[in-house]
Amino acid sequence: MIILGIETSCDETSVALVEDGKKVLSNVVISQVDFHKEFFGVLPELASRKHLEYINLALDKAFKDSGIDFGGIDGVAVTFGPGLVSSLLVGVNVAKTIAFFYDKPMFKVDHVEAHLFSPFIEYDVDFPFIGLVVSGGHTILFVVRNFYDLEIVGYTVDDAVGEAFDKVAKMLGLGYPGGPMIDKLSKKGNCNAFKFPLGANEKPYDRYNFSYSGLKTSVLYTVRKIQNLDENKVNDICASFQKSAIDVLYVKVKRLVEDTGIKNVVVAGGVSANSYLREVFLNDSSIKVFIPSVKYSTDNAVMVASLAYFKPIKASIYDEVYPRIATITKGKRKV
Ligand code: KG4
Ligand code: ZN
Repeated sequence: MIILGIETSCDETSVALVEDGKKVLSNVVISQVDFHKEFFGVLPELASRKHLEYINLALDKAFKDSGIDFGGIDGVAVTFGPGLVSSLLVGVNVAKTIAFFYDKPMFKVDHVEAHLFSPFIEYDVDFPFIGLVVSGGHTILFVVRNFYDLEIVGYTVDDAVGEAFDKVAKMLGLGYPGGPMIDKLSKKGNCNAFKFPLGANEKPYDRYNFSYSGLKTSVLYTVRKIQNLDENKVNDICASFQKSAIDVLYVKVKRLVEDTGIKNVVVAGGVSANSYLREVFLNDSSIKVFIPSVKYSTDNAVMVASLAYFKPIKASIYDEVYPRIATITKGKRKV
């Protein structure tokens, strides 16, 4: 079963063709990062305009790379949300047009779920598992019992972890997106040079929750106090911030492992590309950790096409069980 995946929720225009959820026939990601850099974040109006400009290029290249044509697909999967509305609309309308014209089923895919199940592209992950989605917009901890039974047990009460990386990078004048740059500079810095608070809330009801605003403010006050912010100090701030931001993710996942006895752990989303995060989680031999390759950690259409294959195929009554994600338009000509 070959599914065309389309992802336009933020600032990447991505189109992929994936066979049976795992065989990647093509994966095109056109990044708009250079256009958003000067704003230190994604400018929604600019993002949707760029998606309009790039979507046909991405489609053409994805089909060319895969060697199949539109008629050769079995369905169209598209990110339906959450994301920037005007950006999502570009992908959704393109997907609807293709599904309608070629009479193929269309699958609505939730962006956070696509990240959560992205390790399924490369690994065989057994249920139940503990899932942590860490991206620019989300920091969510799940207990996942099957494709339809996702329990959210924790989340950030303020900023997402990726957002904290981006804002700290902005304070240090490192450009956008901040995550990859902080990751790189941290390697040259001392992670114990500055004592920042963990990105956590530790009230009794926040057993699994996160909070990054205190950490962010603490970095800001530190930066303001430093007279001469030279390269070494920037590296040290990066390493110290990164440690605080990532360690808490590990602490809370481990807590959930102990509380539930579930030892399979998935970490996904843009921040899972972080090399320190990978080191911390993958070095723990008491848990089985699945983290997607970097190209599937950040936004991509492969994870969208892959989930649309696994989720409906594994359960036949998906429409009723989980209407938000399920197939809603079967490509029938109902105008
Ligand atoms: O999943 P994603 O591509 O888009 C969203 O759904 O938000 O995640 C983007 C986020 C950005 O905040 C970016 O700074 C962060 O992921 N990121 C990283 C790294 N690579 C990307 N954060 C830390 N270390 C990285 N290596
Ligand atoms: Zn994402």
